[in-house]
Amino acid sequence: MLPRITSGVPGVDNLLNGGFPEHRCIILQGGPGSGKTTFSLQFLYEGAVNEEQPGIYITLSESPEEIRENNLASHGWDLAKLENKGLLKIVDARPVIASKDGLIAPNERLFKGELLPFSHLLQLVVQNITKAKAKRLVLDSLTVLTMQYANRFYVRQGVLGLIQALSNMDCTSLLLIEDLAEATGIPIELAVAPGAVVLRYERKGDVMTRSFQILKMRGVKHSLQLYHMEIDDGGIKVFPEEAAITK
Ligand SMILES: Nc1ncnc2c1ncn2[C@@H]1O[C@H](COP(=O)(O)OP(=O)(O)O)[C@@H](O)[C@H]1O
Ligand SMILES: [Mg+2]
Repeated sequence: MLPRITSGVPGVDNLLNGGFPEHRCIILQGGPGSGKTTFSLQFLYEGAVNEEQPGIYITLSESPEEIRENNLASHGWDLAKLENKGLLKIVDARPVIASKDGLIAPNERLFKGELLPFSHLLQLVVQNITKAKAKRLVLDSLTVLTMQYANRFYVRQGVLGLIQALSNMDCTSLLLIEDLAEATGIPIELAVAPGAVVLRYERKGDVMTRSFQILKMRGVKHSLQLYHMEIDDGGIKVFPEEAAITK
């Protein structure tokens, strides 16, 4: 059996025979508000608190301050404390920098003058993993990263390179993406990544419901069912006994 790493999300490890396959890149896909950021932080938080495994969170969306504030308020996760202990590093990789006097500018350090797309970012990621001896990594999100490039061929090279480079590290990565079906069909990252899970947040009658699905997981026997999922003060829970309401 492939070695596993715990997901940190109650219910999920049962559905994966023990957790995510270790050292791999897993795509975490879902629309706005579906719980991607929460799921991926829970993966890092529980790994750090329960197993003392250092984690890295690369953010291209919310600022590090917002991430700390929101998750302390919503779930009581003290991320700053983990950062002080060297068990978590939040890396600000937002493509645009805004200064206090209102000026905005592209973050040249990360995204300009590259021979290959994302090469500076990838360098930063690899350096951080090595330095922190990180076992867990989150990229929030691959969609924001790839949106900055007009040339699709160039972007595909970057995505393939990123997934290959991360697969060679002693670290399990969650790569977040927003949408399943782009105009051109299946996003390349879903085709090449060894695993993908989908979070859904949908209207059923007068309420919104959440569900969790394993779309693919190479080398793992898994169910094809959609499962009921909830978010509350403790974070995310998946209910392996409860099929999601699909009608
Ligand atoms: N303590 C809580 N109780 C109930 N729901 C919560 C709580 N904290 C967060 N949420 C819900 O989780 C959502 C956050 O999802 P998030 O992880 O940011 O999604 P995404 O990253 O996919 O956009 C919020 O919009 C809110 O609906
Ligand atoms: Mg998010």
